[in-house]
Amino acid sequence: MTSEFAVEMRDVVKRFITPEGGELNAVDRVTMHIKNGEFFSMLGSSGCGKTTSLRMIAGFEWPTEGEVYIEGKAMGHTPPFQRKVNTVFQSYALFQHMTVLQNVAFGLEMEGASKDEITKRVGRALEMVQLTGMERRRPKQLSGGQQQRVALARALVKTPDVLLLDEPLGALDLKLRKEMQLELKALQQQLGITFVYVTHDQEEAMTMSDRIAVMSMGKVKQMGTPVEVYERPANRFVADFIGESNFLEGKLKTLSKDEACVFVPELNAELIGLPVSEGLVNGEEVTVSIRPEKVHISEKPLNLNSFNGQVINTVYIGTDTHVYVDVQGKRIKVFEQNRISRLDPGSFYAVGQQITLVMMPENVLVLKKN
Ligand SMILES: Nc1ncnc2c1ncn2[C@@H]1O[C@H](COP(=O)(O)OP(=O)(O)O)[C@@H](O)[C@H]1O
Ligand SMILES: [Mg+2]
Repeated sequence: MTSEFAVEMRDVVKRFITPEGGELNAVDRVTMHIKNGEFFSMLGSSGCGKTTSLRMIAGFEWPTEGEVYIEGKAMGHTPPFQRKVNTVFQSYALFQHMTVLQNVAFGLEMEGASKDEITKRVGRALEMVQLTGMERRRPKQLSGGQQQRVALARALVKTPDVLLLDEPLGALDLKLRKEMQLELKALQQQLGITFVYVTHDQEEAMTMSDRIAVMSMGKVKQMGTPVEVYERPANRFVADFIGESNFLEGKLKTLSKDEACVFVPELNAELIGLPVSEGLVNGEEVTVSIRPEKVHISEKPLNLNSFNGQVINTVYIGTDTHVYVDVQGKRIKVFEQNRISRLDPGSFYAVGQQITLVMMPENVLVLKKN
């Protein structure tokens, strides 16, 4: 391999003229360095520019500004079939009148591969996706999950260095989708190919990815491992988009090299010993963020980093119980795992019960207001 990176987008802009006659930067100065063998995901809600980014990597669209590199080479206007990438789309786009075998063999036939070569490679691709024995079926005679696998086999048979996947599991029901997520991840690890995966489903991105680019309105809001984007979201958008967060408005009261103290007027209290993130300035207004599962409930009042409140409501959702607590008129969400049996109604906090919420400093993030 010539480059450490399988795919790079450097300062890429894609501008569309909208039907209304306006201009839209569907992709707005995006830079990504995707490493060889990496499972890399673009995560964001509908319309944030994921498909457009993928189409530019594939060569179906060209950047308005910036450049796409594959294995260190600037792609310019290189057409799709001359790029060492292959795409699996959300709609499988299988040929309905052809068998599984014919669908998977199609691309190789177009390339003029020999009959022996085709048989060997199709056989191997079908084995990879566990469809051996289904060669003679037509797409209609397969389940959604199996059709998905045919689409995958059709992409894998060309032995691409990079596989681009645009919401490939979108049409499957939840249970099957979760199975396929683990299968795809295992397949990627086994083959050692780079996967660039597009999804709007945060759990899917967290489950499968080595790294995730969290996108919004054509921009990358944060890039990092699943643990990084969840435990150390870089801004309020990411803290809100991935998982759930409680946000409190506050002001930096003291700031040292490794500790921050924030006064929270809403709660008339301060949080001390908080981790310091880059770019904070003493005295500035900040947003404090804490995950609901990282707030602890104590039935005894405590002093440090704790707030007295009243239970508003409890919601039982099987794995967890969500407890909503009123602290000085501010509603705080707490998730407690149901490690004990909840059959006894007395195991839940009572509405109106006085409790204390404890926020351990290492779980509290101080974010710049933005
Ligand atoms: N060919 C096009 N012409 C005009 N606008 C487009 C075109 N393709 C996509 N868009 C717009 O660009 C934005 C990003 O689209 P897309 O990349 O498909 O988002 P995503 O895949 O994240 O849902 C959307 O607002 C979409 O309407
Ligand atoms: Mg899309």
